[in-house]
Amino acid sequence: MCGIVGCILKDKKAAPILLECVTKLEYRGYDSVGIATPDSEIHIKKDQGKIKDVNKKIGLSNLPGDMGIAHVRWATHGIPTKENSHPHTDCSGNIAVVHNGIIENYKEIKDALIEEGHVFKSETDTEVIPHLIEKFMAQGLDLESAIRDTLDMIHGSYAIAAMAAAEPGKIVGAKKDSPLIVGKGIDEYFVASDAPAILNHTNNIIYLEDGEMVILERSGVTVKNMLGEVIKKEIHVLDWTPEMAEKGGFDHFMIKEIHEQGESVRNTLMEAADIEKVVNELPDIERISFVACGTSYHASLIGKYLFESLMGVPTDVILASEFKYSAPALNDKTLVIFISQSGETADTLKALRLAKESAETLAIVNVLGSAATREAHHVIFTRAGPEIGVAATKTYVSQLTCIYILVSYMSNRMDLLEELHKVPQYMEDILADEDHIKEIASRYKDSQDFFFIGRGFSYPTALEGALKLKEITYIHGEGYAAGELKHGPLALIDDGVPVVAVVPPGISHDKTLSNVEEVRARGARVIGLGSHEDKLLKSEADDVIGINESVNELISPISYIVPLQLLSYYISVEKGIDPDKPKNLAKCVTVE
Ligand code: AGP
Repeated sequence: MCGIVGCILKDKKAAPILLECVTKLEYRGYDSVGIATPDSEIHIKKDQGKIKDVNKKIGLSNLPGDMGIAHVRWATHGIPTKENSHPHTDCSGNIAVVHNGIIENYKEIKDALIEEGHVFKSETDTEVIPHLIEKFMAQGLDLESAIRDTLDMIHGSYAIAAMAAAEPGKIVGAKKDSPLIVGKGIDEYFVASDAPAILNHTNNIIYLEDGEMVILERSGVTVKNMLGEVIKKEIHVLDWTPEMAEKGGFDHFMIKEIHEQGESVRNTLMEAADIEKVVNELPDIERISFVACGTSYHASLIGKYLFESLMGVPTDVILASEFKYSAPALNDKTLVIFISQSGETADTLKALRLAKESAETLAIVNVLGSAATREAHHVIFTRAGPEIGVAATKTYVSQLTCIYILVSYMSNRMDLLEELHKVPQYMEDILADEDHIKEIASRYKDSQDFFFIGRGFSYPTALEGALKLKEITYIHGEGYAAGELKHGPLALIDDGVPVVAVVPPGISHDKTLSNVEEVRARGARVIGLGSHEDKLLKSEADDVIGINESVNELISPISYIVPLQLLSYYISVEKGIDPDKPKNLAKCVTVE
């Protein structure tokens, strides 16, 4: 996930305003930044690092001209370096492009362009765009048509803004599966990844749809489809304040990141071909060990259930901090999978260094260039984009998506891969029920203890639900395998104790419902998570959060965690806690 901005201004220098706008997009990426402005040639300032550090070093706003484009990067292809920072240019440096998204077929395009004599300066997927535009403009097309032909050739997701020295006073934007909005001020025009980025300048916003292009000129903005036909678009007048900017209009990063989970799953699915490649590189494996901490540990538990039930491969899951005390006997037929959002967690890195001495290692990581990605034998990237809230949400669902893709390829279960493509819609349906979950949260917010129960694939979901609750509401929450309650914890169930039961359709359904009956008989208040159509659950639970009936047990962990994240988020807000910065915790734990 990256942030892009472009503007054409009147009697004002563009670079300081581009810098201000792109700073509001820093939540979308913060490893590199760059600005390009044209006069007779295109001037670019860019480097890797946080915006304020890069600005201090090279003076980003010190560029001529009243128009330009800017970018803040979250590295996906190519580690954060000056060369990999956007804007990217063609061979001549006369065409500049900023891009948010992933171009899946960039390698074949790049190889073909190199054959034709194009010289690439970066390792990014994005750089194929200016080179393709250059190629088509050299054949006589104008910028707009050259971009259209370019977009015809690329697969994947994109929001772009591009300009060419040969066509002064013009910026062309386009989108597919990545956000792009247009701002229409008085004689001043903008494109940006989101509206809050430009709210200081205009609140007249046009939302572009997939397959639409916008042409900003000094005379105004025109929106067209991919056939070049003009489209009439509605202008929305927003009543947001500029202060809402960094959070994209949401109150907290956490809720914004919960809402981004569909996009995270979609982006991670685009990684499928690279994951297949990793699978093909793996030696014969007789055993799998997952190693991780916290939320990443819960994702690993789902991995265990998947590998054992679908492939029959013995799989264990070890807390990274316990690895040196309880590591299984490793050998070259063991694959040790390290899961880490940050790729910098000290416990996980220590375990990785130990495991590497005798086993094959694979790291599933969200941050490109992090220590885990440099040290593991194989790496898979989750494509969640930057996660700012301390509580892991979208990185968790992306980790799960990676594990499901991995197991689909390893077990040849392509039906599972197909199922995954439906998950973003299931998530959106759950988010449409947000007010209901908020209302439940306000009724349960004063409880002292919560229990979360589930069986099979729902057991790790229960554990993760309890972790979210503890972390951001400071309420005691316990996750239990539902069948384990009667072996001790049932003694703690009294009148009014909330029990959250995760009961998707599947083989564990009836047995978990029996456990729900047991806690009800002891006075528990039950919040049930299950299919919309589950009449039995409705008759047993005090409150039901209904989920699409097609979401069966096997695939449920990626969707069923969303209501639990929302429940904790809204309890946290009701209690006046800042869910983004829970006490005593840090986003990345670099001590053992
Ligand atoms: C979860 O909400 C926490 N922030 C925490 O448990 C986290 O998952 C854990 O510290 C591991 O971090 P990592 O994924 O960056 O290695």
